[in-house]
Amino acid sequence: MNDNGRSIITLDYTGMMISAQNSNGFAMEELHGLQNLLEQAQISILSQRDSGKLDFSKLLTSMKAQLHEIIDYSNAVAPNYDNFVVLGIGGSALGPLAVHQALNHYYYNDLPPAERGHRPRFYVMDNIDPVRFNELLQMLDPRKTLFNVISKSGNTSETMAQFLIIRDTLRQVCGDSYAKHIVITTDKEKGNLLPIALQEGYQRFVIPAGIGGRFSELTPVGLLAAAICGIDVKQLLEGALAMDQWIRDSKGVLSNPAQLRASLAYLSYQKGKNISVFMPYADGLKTMADWYAQMWAESLGKRFDRQGRVVNVGQTPVKALGVTDQHSQVQLYVEGPDDKIITFVTVEKFKATREIPVDFDLPEDIQFLGGRTLEELLFAEQKATEYALTLAKRQHQKIILSSLDAYSVGQLLLLLEWETAYMGELLNINTFDQPGVEEGKNGTYALMGRKGYETRKHDIEEYGKTLYILNEKRD
Ligand code: PA5
Repeated sequence: MNDNGRSIITLDYTGMMISAQNSNGFAMEELHGLQNLLEQAQISILSQRDSGKLDFSKLLTSMKAQLHEIIDYSNAVAPNYDNFVVLGIGGSALGPLAVHQALNHYYYNDLPPAERGHRPRFYVMDNIDPVRFNELLQMLDPRKTLFNVISKSGNTSETMAQFLIIRDTLRQVCGDSYAKHIVITTDKEKGNLLPIALQEGYQRFVIPAGIGGRFSELTPVGLLAAAICGIDVKQLLEGALAMDQWIRDSKGVLSNPAQLRASLAYLSYQKGKNISVFMPYADGLKTMADWYAQMWAESLGKRFDRQGRVVNVGQTPVKALGVTDQHSQVQLYVEGPDDKIITFVTVEKFKATREIPVDFDLPEDIQFLGGRTLEELLFAEQKATEYALTLAKRQHQKIILSSLDAYSVGQLLLLLEWETAYMGELLNINTFDQPGVEEGKNGTYALMGRKGYETRKHDIEEYGKTLYILNEKRD
């Protein structure tokens, strides 16, 4: 906590740097050597903001001004529904999920309504697995459910397919009042969802222009879901604004947290560390690792640089969870190929504590646990993992949140967004497009028979012929 009683974020990058314990780390000069590039990166990011592309601070300020609309709507509808279901994918799903899991009760959906503040249960349907989709509809009553269809483009096949099924179901069960069960979050002017929403009279929230899916959590994409489920969205934005201010105001790689993390990632990538592991030591941050993975992968995995040269860059993100993955992945991190950097995310003060009972009748080898707490055990395991990595000369760093609350989650989101933007600049690529994803989306349109995609359909069928196959039929 700082002097104002607000959570603070600390970066500990000892495990990335050269030291008596780790000859494999970076020297300070290597970080300073990036200073000019970082200054150019800052100018480039800010000029993209001016062209409306990446408007972190303007976005946050305008969201703060609009927040009352989201909060008023949320407070009005929340008591009327048992369930709130997000239909969206990628950037339209991972942020709402991450923030919900970080800030609400871990078993929020299982709590009695009064303990949820009489707010609806929360579900995110991102995938289109028919079994899961049908099972969700079997389990909840559409008449008591509000569906939030989120799509920036208003064209994504998965989300549109889900929307069409839900709209049909609602029409059957709710008759003329079906539109009250749908709220859409989409672009102000573009996409196929918008005209339907306008014609059928759905409640609508706008994703501001120039903000791509994975950078949209702090817009109505994430703020609505959070507000409906009782999260303090004002504090979320305050935290994000504070981080934005810190990043914009600080001069020099050692004082700017996003520049520092991007520089460490970039230096490590240049030295063949092709993998970036994100490993929170708090169950509440488990899906934050999914959100980070999309941010890092989709923003930075690019074939061309800005001059159109083939570069095929990108550091592969890996999601892990402490301590669970100490018993699964850490063996590889310590002894496998030296191709990774690891970011631990720790929380200094958990919302709760749990003491382990003392029992002197137990064997000494487990008696030592008695009288200690679960968080002491968790901290010890995290520290011990750091030590094992250091001994093995593997690079690691830590983001320390003083506590896990709306303010610190806002800070964390903005830190990782800015870090990604700096890393994209250092790699000299466009961080904000996703041509590889668009190719897949277009292929889907073609195979599903969308008009105008006939040639592509033919091409896919031609090139995609199955040539080698093995199954249990034996000739
Ligand atoms: O980050 C992105 O741009 C993507 O992950 C999109 O969010 C995802 O493809 C869904 O797109 P849309 O919101 O347009 O439906």
